[in-house]
Amino acid sequence: MMQQSSITHAVAFQSLRKHQAEAKNWQLRNLFAQTPERFPEMTVSAAGLFLDYSKNRVNNLTLKLLLDLARERDVEACRDAMFAGEKINSTENRAVLHTALRAPRDLALTIDGQDVVRDVHAVLDHIKNFTERVHTASWIGYTGKAITDVVNIGIGGSDLGPKMVCTALRSFAIPHIKMHFVSNVDGHDLDATLSIVNPETTLFIIASKTFTTAETMLNAGSARIWFLRHGKYEDLSKHFVAVSTNTEAVKAFGIDADNMFPFWDWVGGRYSVWSAVGLPVALAVGFDRFAEFLAGAHAMDNHFCAAPLESNMPVLLALIGLWNRNFLGYTSLSIAPYHHDLARFPSYLQQLEMESNGKRVSKDGSLVDFSTCPIIWGDVGTNGQHAYFQLLHQGTDIAPIDFIASLKARHTLDDHQEALLANCFAQSEAFMRGKTPDEVWADLRAQNLDEVEIEALVPHRTFPGNRPSNTILMEELTPTNLGALIALYEHKTFVQGVLWGVNSFDQWGVELGKALAKNIQEEIVGDTLPDRHDSSTNGLITRAKAVNPNW
Ligand code: F6P
Repeated sequence: MMQQSSITHAVAFQSLRKHQAEAKNWQLRNLFAQTPERFPEMTVSAAGLFLDYSKNRVNNLTLKLLLDLARERDVEACRDAMFAGEKINSTENRAVLHTALRAPRDLALTIDGQDVVRDVHAVLDHIKNFTERVHTASWIGYTGKAITDVVNIGIGGSDLGPKMVCTALRSFAIPHIKMHFVSNVDGHDLDATLSIVNPETTLFIIASKTFTTAETMLNAGSARIWFLRHGKYEDLSKHFVAVSTNTEAVKAFGIDADNMFPFWDWVGGRYSVWSAVGLPVALAVGFDRFAEFLAGAHAMDNHFCAAPLESNMPVLLALIGLWNRNFLGYTSLSIAPYHHDLARFPSYLQQLEMESNGKRVSKDGSLVDFSTCPIIWGDVGTNGQHAYFQLLHQGTDIAPIDFIASLKARHTLDDHQEALLANCFAQSEAFMRGKTPDEVWADLRAQNLDEVEIEALVPHRTFPGNRPSNTILMEELTPTNLGALIALYEHKTFVQGVLWGVNSFDQWGVELGKALAKNIQEEIVGDTLPDRHDSSTNGLITRAKAVNPNW
């Protein structure tokens, strides 16, 4: 089942290579003109989401060959292995079971003799109870006051998920709780938060899967020192809780085991927002909303497991992405949410996709001979339109775009929502159609410009078009739909990892920098000038020491 050979050896991959030569000359506007049913044929609905992939440079044969490739690479069997709890994270010998975190209570899944769904729901019950106590002020601070501020200290998956979801669901927020997120080791981050919260009414969540991550431990330690300037040691338990897999380290930090919300090594950091790492979400919007968020993801899990590949949304999104990356050669994917509350979604996806599939060796350790994960980046529409869309329309590089929009707004400014959606649809149309020199000529003639002026302007005002995009729509940005949206991208990432044959669930690439930083920090505070590095690194350390002589 678990394929090992390079994707480039797959029969369907070879066929796609031949097909690519033909596809090179396609113009999207012609594909639309030739096939009026393109929209109904190339759209799919699942779990409250609607995906339009018709504005990609594909035809029915491309899709057939891509689906053949998915079958040849055993996507369905690999998916089933993940859901069944097989140890598919080969370099860490771990199962990958974030899907169990959103499984309903009555679903049983036994791994190594342990019913993981029962364990998951025990933690969810703890989160529910704790959240309700904080909201009803039966959990109070050391001077008897209700909690008004929650500071989540974590980084990477222990920060990006809950921060993105709290922002996305801010219109559902419980008004008397303010959320703060501190992640950066840069003291400006913690300092800015501590300067606006009151120790009597602030709850700190120390979130770290390993409870050893340097940034989080430094921030947590500094927050504790700050707190102890106001409260006593025995008051800490009312103000510090932990989310981790590492009970011993949590206890060593001074947090009561009763105030720890556990999760498990089979939850990857970037897949952990569904676990106790989502505690800030439950505190921000209430447990019931958090449960809806989990249910939305579960609905997408069911779709991913049951839908035929032809109408399987994560599979299609993954295959289109692979076509754009490996056959059309595009090096990045821009994420354009046309919903301001999804502002943090592009950076969330950066970790999800780039930490998962930013790999250059296959599962068997051999170097890959093809490109893997594109660079993921982006910002909300319409802001991006007035910044970098120029390059996307007329620059020399093409970046496929995922437009994401909610059809209904949760405000009453209807004209804003109309303008927002109009811009979203207009952009995908503009990227697809472009504007030919003839069309520019016609426009400028209609404005009565003289021929010489027109001649000079035409190249500047021509849009090549033929630039691919997907559009993902939901009726409204609700907890349920957000859960489905995140799960959609998780499964897309998984499918691409399977196709490329890489391990999507480790992240060894972050280790080297961590180790070097530890050494350099020792040198920065040491008495001698550094001489162990290259001249650049020695020079930079020396400059830092020179302006901070008291270190
Ligand atoms: O260094 C990368 C990483 O391990 C991410 O994968 C992870 O989400 C992040 O650090 C934080 O890790 P932890 O939750 O263990 O503090």
